[in-house]
Amino acid sequence: MSTSPESSIGIFDSGIGGLTVVKAVRKALPRENIIYFGDTARVPYGIKSVETVRQYALQITDFLLKKNVKLVLIACNTVSAAAHEEVKTRCGKIPALGVIEAGSRAAVEAGGKSIGVIGTLATIGSGAYDKSLTALDPGIRVFSRACPMLVPLAEEGWTDNEIATLTLQTYLSDLKGKNLDSLILGCTHYPLFRDGIAEILNGTTTRIIDSADSIARMATELLESKNMMNSEGSRQGSFECYVSDKPQRFQQLAERFMGEKINRIEIVNLI
Ligand code: DGL
Repeated sequence: MSTSPESSIGIFDSGIGGLTVVKAVRKALPRENIIYFGDTARVPYGIKSVETVRQYALQITDFLLKKNVKLVLIACNTVSAAAHEEVKTRCGKIPALGVIEAGSRAAVEAGGKSIGVIGTLATIGSGAYDKSLTALDPGIRVFSRACPMLVPLAEEGWTDNEIATLTLQTYLSDLKGKNLDSLILGCTHYPLFRDGIAEILNGTTTRIIDSADSIARMATELLESKNMMNSEGSRQGSFECYVSDKPQRFQQLAERFMGEKINRIEIVNLI
């Protein structure tokens, strides 16, 4: 089946983190239809092996391709680090963009040579940001920190309580002293802690970089260049949500975060 401008954009993550990308895409491209998959049965990905993350990513990609999506957005840094090439290959002619490239570009465009990256153990351990940032500008110095507790806290909805504050302070105190030009939120769950992170960085000149706006911009440019923008009518595009477990819990958190009612949310078993 061939895709058309009315086909949906497929976006996926291990859980609710990728909704930060959905929000940015809906703002940049309000007419686009979006299909989201959150792998809530298997979150977190960041503590799993590359092989396992690749296997999960390809299963989700197959699911989205069956839905005839015209573009895949990997709204997960862990998958972008472990399996972007594999997802691209599986997608064939359908383009697949990843958040690591988007986040790196945004940080380099913002200027400065001293860049901090926080992410999951898998993302930081892969060195994917170091490679991508220094490929864009070999003069950049990268300071990384894995923050594995943040994803479980976000999935629990604990993003602005005392535990979240203490956890952020523990993870970020070293980086705060590095005089960073930018700090990349190298996990799509982390923008949920944006206020707490900004508070810790208060008093520094460090900019916070969220790859969501950057990947939304890349998606816009790509669809424009291929004449694949959905120009049907003037209505807001549809938003279909799929998860691999516990849709009720996901729905509560997702609606709180998106600030809107999610009418369609279904549970799908990929295995
Ligand atoms: N939100 C994801 C990321 O950007 C995955 C986090 C996880 O499942 O550990 O890496």
